[in-house]
Amino acid sequence: MEIRAVAVIGLGTMGAGIAEVFARKGLPVTAVEVNQEALGAGMAALDRSLARASSRGRLTEAGRAQIAARIRPASALADTADADLVIEVVPEQLAIKRQVLAELDQACRPDAIIATNTSSLSVTAIAAGSAHPDRVIGMHFFNPAPVMRLVEVVTTVLTRPAVTRAVLALARDLGKTPVQVSDRAGFIANALLLPYLNHAARLAETGYASLEDIDAAMTGGAGLPMGPLALLDLIGLDTSLAILEILRAEFGGSRYVPAPLLRRLAEAGRTGRKSGAGFYDYPASPAAPAADFGDIDNEDRSAPAGTVTLIDPRPAGGAGERPGALPIGQAGCVDPAAGRAADLAGLITAAGVAVSRDPAGPAGLTVVAVGPQGGVLDAALAAGRAPDAVGLHLSGLAAPAADRKTAGAGGTATAGAGGTAGGVPGVPVFAELVATRLTSASALAAALALAGRLDLRVVRAPDRPGLLVGALLCPHLRDAVAMVADGYATPDDIDTAMTLGCGYSRGPIELLERVGYRQVLGVLQAMYRQYGDPAFAPPPLLAELAAAGQPLPVR
Ligand code: 3HC
Repeated sequence: MEIRAVAVIGLGTMGAGIAEVFARKGLPVTAVEVNQEALGAGMAALDRSLARASSRGRLTEAGRAQIAARIRPASALADTADADLVIEVVPEQLAIKRQVLAELDQACRPDAIIATNTSSLSVTAIAAGSAHPDRVIGMHFFNPAPVMRLVEVVTTVLTRPAVTRAVLALARDLGKTPVQVSDRAGFIANALLLPYLNHAARLAETGYASLEDIDAAMTGGAGLPMGPLALLDLIGLDTSLAILEILRAEFGGSRYVPAPLLRRLAEAGRTGRKSGAGFYDYPASPAAPAADFGDIDNEDRSAPAGTVTLIDPRPAGGAGERPGALPIGQAGCVDPAAGRAADLAGLITAAGVAVSRDPAGPAGLTVVAVGPQGGVLDAALAAGRAPDAVGLHLSGLAAPAADRKTAGAGGTATAGAGGTAGGVPGVPVFAELVATRLTSASALAAALALAGRLDLRVVRAPDRPGLLVGALLCPHLRDAVAMVADGYATPDDIDTAMTLGCGYSRGPIELLERVGYRQVLGVLQAMYRQYGDPAFAPPPLLAELAAAGQPLPVR
């Protein structure tokens, strides 16, 4: 089945992006949008995207004009009559999609392939709207469609093998990587992504951390390309809400219950970038809002007064380490003693500030070398230093892979002179700074000044299990392990989906191995103990991997 002409139905953010992808590959595209206003907006978005590529020197003016000329706007489904493949990109509601497919029975050629870009609905249920379900298939693109390389190809029990072959070949021709996935709500990528994004929205709503710090934690602390709230704005809050409702109906459980804030923002029309406002505001012209590092002034190079007292909350030798608490990067390791306090001491002294390990020393700033499970207040109280104590947790996942090879054993965040990760200039160490309920304003100010002097990229985190990075990342990694344990997807498919679909530099399974099974297990156990939510309960497979210290068997 050769595909020489296509039609795209629905010209929202995704529809316009998909039309651009086809046109860039030389295919004539009929862009159908029954609503005239939406048609105009979609064509304008297409023009903007091509103009952006041309202004960046990625397209010549002639190339831009050719691509634009291949896209024919249309306002009736009857205009799909010439297409070999019709892809529907209408809102994520089963009734609407079925209706479109029913109408396509009359409108398009009897042998045309009908693809749906549904992000989470059952393709089988959508196909039931067609008189020819054997030529219906899922073809799920990712936003921004011209950039993200993944296409999830979803077949049903009725899809004809020739249709599947043609769509796989087309996806490859488009320069994408197709991954065949089962017809389960959210397929792979959205089933993993949306609960994590929802969790971030909930943390924002409850004031767990600031919007900027939540986003910075996941870019700076976990190495993801965008923070979760900025990503919700990109996907669209209305779309995200619809996907969560579908996931919730299919799987149940608290992780899929949409955060009330998400619903309120969507109801208020703050649907994200496309409406000009979501979690953040998007003024018409300038670039996206900078997710900077909160209220930390990293430019402040003034030294904190006096000596910094450093407390390692673990008894000597690490024997008292809570189960599973390992330094970042030591996948499957047993010895937790390495790292934390020594890294901090090295970093602080390298910046020319004296460090004392004597809790009975002079008052001033006390830094607790806190682990990802929290416990700053306990350690500060035990040392009798609560008013002048803050927690500091270094994280190394932000450093690019090449740089991290030079970092400390197992990839533990280390800092050379000048406060750079692994001694690599320009790659600042990322840290979570924890002020407890008893931390004085002057101690906090001194800690911020110290962070500036150390060149740390800092986010503020509460004294809770997982702090901020772990609280978001570990449940996300847990969901990936649960997906493997369910036999739903292989570790490779999961990592491919998240790297190519969501731009992760490392997929969740690789991240899990890098952070360490025991560390993730420890954070999840602590979160489960604290909140009692089964969504945080570690899957037995994770406990087995942590005990065995072996990588996942199937890679
Ligand atoms: N359209 C076209 N091209 C775009 C674009 C857009 N909207 N946004 C960025 N680009 C291109 C730029 O032109 C640039 O290409 P160039 O180097 O050839 O000029 C390249 O992408 C990088 O862009 P920028 O330098 O402006 O920005 P970043 O480097 O910050 O990358 C990003 C932007 C690609 C969006 C990156 O942040 C990223 O990968 N984010 C994650 C996005 C993601 O997770 N998407 C999946 C969401 S889930 C989904 O879509 C499923 C659905 O069902 C909900």
